[in-house]
Amino acid sequence: MTTVAPVALRRQVEVMIDGQAVTTWQGATILEACRDVGIEVPTLCYLETLAPVNVCRVCVVELEGSRALVPACSRPVAAGMVVHTGSERVRTSRRMVLELLASSVDLSTAGGDVHRWIDEYGARPDRHGEAAPPSARDRAHAGHHEPLEGGLVATVAQPVKRDNDQYVRDYAKCILCYKCVEACGEEAQHTFAIAVAGRGFDARISTEMDVALPESACVYCGNCIGVCPTGALMFVSEHELRARGEWDESRQEVTSTICPYCGVGCTLELHVQDNRIVKVTSPLDHDVTSGNLCVKGRFGFEFAQGDR
Ligand code: SF4
Ligand code: SF4
Ligand code: FES
Repeated sequence: MTTVAPVALRRQVEVMIDGQAVTTWQGATILEACRDVGIEVPTLCYLETLAPVNVCRVCVVELEGSRALVPACSRPVAAGMVVHTGSERVRTSRRMVLELLASSVDLSTAGGDVHRWIDEYGARPDRHGEAAPPSARDRAHAGHHEPLEGGLVATVAQPVKRDNDQYVRDYAKCILCYKCVEACGEEAQHTFAIAVAGRGFDARISTEMDVALPESACVYCGNCIGVCPTGALMFVSEHELRARGEWDESRQEVTSTICPYCGVGCTLELHVQDNRIVKVTSPLDHDVTSGNLCVKGRFGFEFAQGDR
């Protein structure tokens, strides 16, 4: 995570954003400056608890004096910057990103903002043509991606990976935002059970040598699930309820409690539907967990409802 100087030592800078003078802290990003004054900038790979990886490019803005559009999530402000967040160039770029993602990835369980942005930016994923059937992406060789015959559109569709009792990996829903890799690795867990394999369109999230999760280094902390923005990584309980058409967030209550397993005292958010815990999260802004848990806090809830 970025190291931030104490407030007393941080200098203020003034920038112009969409014609508005904005005063913010030196070291803040353009995204933070925008959010301070209520300007929405879409983000997909950004999360406040992770260092920016700059891979989705949906947050780009126009910076006067810069030839290329710049990612708002990682570019720090500098005094006198002039930024445009809604120019035609910006909108075209974001539309293209959203359209390519929506034409190749199943976004059905992605957050509502993604679908709103697709509408607001006028992305038309259907215009690319008919989607190709699922493929064996885990067998793809780098540099061997060929255009499909018959005008079919390549997608990341592939069978769901269900190889353990805790969570399901449905990479047909993966936008390759890297958040799970970061949470599993340097940013939180330091387990490094997953990484990006392959290149270009064939790039995908994989365990080492594509082994099943129980044979991998995974310790089932579920921190990857906690940061996944699309539902590609999902509790088995949620996956099964969705498959039966019974997942209903409007009937769920979220109760905050303290994990009973050890003295760290992580805050847990128990998501309860029909008197059963269906998933467990922790708040991103919690100063003990930053949203991260261990296997006991994340998945050890069966005893409370007599499942194990
Ligand atoms: S559950 Fe934890 S250890 Fe396993 S892949 Fe996800 S982040 Fe890594
Ligand atoms: S599985 Fe989820 S968190 Fe991981 S890269 Fe794909 S969309 Fe991002
Ligand atoms: S949110 Fe900025 S590059 Fe993805």
